Amino acid sequence: MAENIIGIDIGFGFTKATDGRDFLVFKSIYGEAVDFQFRENLLDTSRNDEHLQIEIDGASYFVGELSERQSTSRSFTLDQSQFVSSSSKILALATLSHFVRDDSQPIKLVVGLPIGHYRQYKEELAQMLNGTHAFVAVDGEGNKRSLNIHVADVRVLPQPLGTVMDRLLSSLGTPKNQRFATDKIGVIDVGFRTTDYTISDKGRYSERGSLTTKNGISVAFSKIGHKLKETCGIDIEIYRLFTAVDQGTIKVRGKAYDLKKISEASLKQLASVIAIDANQVWSDDWDIDAIMITGGGGAVLAPYIQEQLQGITIPIKEDLDYRLHNVRGYYKFGLYTWTKPEKATLTAVASV
Ligand SMILES: Nc1ncnc2c1ncn2[C@@H]1O[C@H](COP(=O)(O)OP(=O)(O)OP(=O)(O)O)[C@@H](O)[C@H]1O
Ligand SMILES: [Mg+2]
Repeated sequence: MAENIIGIDIGFGFTKATDGRDFLVFKSIYGEAVDFQFRENLLDTSRNDEHLQIEIDGASYFVGELSERQSTSRSFTLDQSQFVSSSSKILALATLSHFVRDDSQPIKLVVGLPIGHYRQYKEELAQMLNGTHAFVAVDGEGNKRSLNIHVADVRVLPQPLGTVMDRLLSSLGTPKNQRFATDKIGVIDVGFRTTDYTISDKGRYSERGSLTTKNGISVAFSKIGHKLKETCGIDIEIYRLFTAVDQGTIKVRGKAYDLKKISEASLKQLASVIAIDANQVWSDDWDIDAIMITGGGGAVLAPYIQEQLQGITIPIKEDLDYRLHNVRGYYKFGLYTWTKPEKATLTAVASV
């Protein structure tokens, strides 16, 4: 029987998830649900954002972009201890409400934690997600669906290792690329708020050579945001800047502002700090075979980081949004762990 495995990567910026068929990405924010007098899809046909709404213990939450647009009070947590205890559960259950159609089948989860919190929180997170979750999913029309989801097993991985697992394992969860099982690979995962560094040594996580810094892409985006405030007086939320930076321009009250110069300068500066940290944290690891750059911020910064890195980089496959490589790896790791228990080569990773 096919296992019901879901990989979930809860980042400060975005929650990413997959059940092996579809991907779900939404902003890691949630807020109090409000009653719509006029449902927004009255006028809004272009928007195909997911309606993610759940009720837990009598409280109703909008999750992701929906809360950004509709909730009056929103949680946008940057504090990791709080993030694990309160936010992760809501974000994870909202994710399950999207994927689980038939709650009579048990689910198995692979989730990632940032390197800096892995050791401290992995048990807490696993415990919180394990077991039966009774809650209500509410759709865009206000219809309610009671769910009673049984999570039978949870594995927690250090976040950036998802990208290594993605390259090491096939879509069936079997090892396909021996290089990733035998080599020493450094991973730089540039997220929204943090950058994680870690080493996968023969497919095992090495705590030495691991580091979390606050140099996520938001550092560069805040600079760009400040500049925008100076020039046109608006306070733009930094997580809205991705498209603008990508396009090199932003329209404010009808007027276009060129962002190319400031973006390039801010991104280069951040990339350089990230590369310097990598060179430093791996200064004794001269035997690293290659380095991978991943995470949504990696998509923007990889070319600049590479220039300044000591070592060879493995280009990330361009077949998928950079934000999703970790979570695709989690899913494959779930397949590897639960569908072929007789194989033991990689279990070291599972038990760290
Ligand atoms: N298609 C996209 N839409 C929006 N942002 C994108 C996209 N592709 C890349 N990005 C970049 O990805 C960043 C978020 O990356 P990612 O999802 O890896 O971060 P995170 O895991 O949520 O953060 P952290 O690792 O700090 O917890 C955004 O800030 C943006 O710069
Ligand atoms: Mg991340």
